Amino acid sequence: MATALIVLAAGQGTRMNSDLPKVLHRLGAAPLFAHALAAGRALEPARVIVVAGHGADQVTKAVAHVDPEAEVVLQEEQLGTGHAVAQAMPALGGFEGRALVLYGDTPFIRAETLEALAESPADVTVLGFEAADPGRYGRLIVTGGALEKIVEYKDATDEERAVTLCNSGVVACDAGLLAELVAGLKNDNAAGEYYLTDIVAAARARGLSAAVVTCPEEETLGINTRAELARAEALFQARARAEALDNGVSLQDPASVWFALDTYLGRDVVIGPHVVFGPGVTIESGAVIEAFCHLEGCHISRGATVGPFARLRPGAELAEDVHVGNFVEIKNSLLGEGVKVGHLSYLGDAEIGEATNIGAGTITCNYDGVFKHRTVVGANAFIGSDTMLVAPVRVGDGALTGSGSVITEDVPAGAVALGRAKQVVKPGLATKLFEMLRARKAQMKKGS
Ligand code: UD1
Ligand code: CA
Repeated sequence: MATALIVLAAGQGTRMNSDLPKVLHRLGAAPLFAHALAAGRALEPARVIVVAGHGADQVTKAVAHVDPEAEVVLQEEQLGTGHAVAQAMPALGGFEGRALVLYGDTPFIRAETLEALAESPADVTVLGFEAADPGRYGRLIVTGGALEKIVEYKDATDEERAVTLCNSGVVACDAGLLAELVAGLKNDNAAGEYYLTDIVAAARARGLSAAVVTCPEEETLGINTRAELARAEALFQARARAEALDNGVSLQDPASVWFALDTYLGRDVVIGPHVVFGPGVTIESGAVIEAFCHLEGCHISRGATVGPFARLRPGAELAEDVHVGNFVEIKNSLLGEGVKVGHLSYLGDAEIGEATNIGAGTITCNYDGVFKHRTVVGANAFIGSDTMLVAPVRVGDGALTGSGSVITEDVPAGAVALGRAKQVVKPGLATKLFEMLRARKAQMKKGS
């Protein structure tokens, strides 16, 4: 059956004490909402609607970045979860299939759990959990094995508050039915809000069925404060590390490696201590990342070795068996098979051909203060230490640049290019100079 996701993300998150909308705070180097969205994406939904309110402009931009196919609808005033879902219904039009409501601030929900929910035969299915401390969660009132209603804490009797089966907020329902149910909601409750939770009693009143699917409490963990966000980060990292180890990745010091939501590491990848992954990193089987590297938006092929102390920035593409050594920064550059850039270099907006050696201290001068320019180096070239490649510039196959050269003009294949002052040698001058200086120092001592 076709599925539509509705992700609620309009709340301000007052307790974050932040100018940033809550769902844009980062977890695993991704905005918070991206986590629930990623779990929902596993169901291959036909439609994804994000309901934004507070900071809607920023949220819209972030959604476009994370998931260009998702649509954002605006909930101008936050009148409750039921009202939020109602805002999504016009965008869904006459969507035929199941709608799944998720919260943007609940990052640990698993795809398997959502699948179980989507497969439930009931008209309305709610994801519940047994709470260790039920606190202020909505309570699931089950009678005779069927879900009768959801009672919000504020509206609950003492007897209802004693129930420990709680509402996660995730709901699955036929999209057409959901539209009807939320259209009929009233806000005559303790909070004066349109509660999505009231759709259960409304469905039952119409003779329809309602059911509960349960999951571990951990999955329903919502983020409301910075302290909770920090704890969630620790939990996310712990899981990402365990998953990497399970998948055949070696982590020499797992606790010091930081993953992003979308980090992909192939089998037999080896990661040294203190490596940080920003978004968008893919590392193929058998590559080695030494200690203290920072990687983001890059692709590293089999057999490549990186670090220690290397920084790969967005658009760094390393072909097989490339070696990137210490204190090297690479941005938006393609390094062909077997390229070596061992020490203290910056390569930006460059293309380096196969088996070329980039000497220590080489810099691509890619920015003129206004525009970025490209550097293209051919295969089997040798770029001498401390070469400045002033882009736009091309160095041909098998060419060589002398150490310390400032290369401003193209170098043809097979040529040597020297762009530095000619060396001058003055025999005996150093000896004379030192004698003169020592004599002066002796005289000054006498005078004092
Ligand atoms: C909700 C449930 C409660 C459940 C709890 C689980 C209702 C009425 N209550 O309560 O049963 O136990 O979640 O965490 O649904 N949002 C909007 N627009 C709004 C209101 C909320 O987008 O007008 C979004 C929030 O940004 C948040 C989510 O919906 O992501 C939940 O809203 P929140 O106010 O936190 O609901 P709770 O009171 O916690
Ligand atoms: Ca909440």
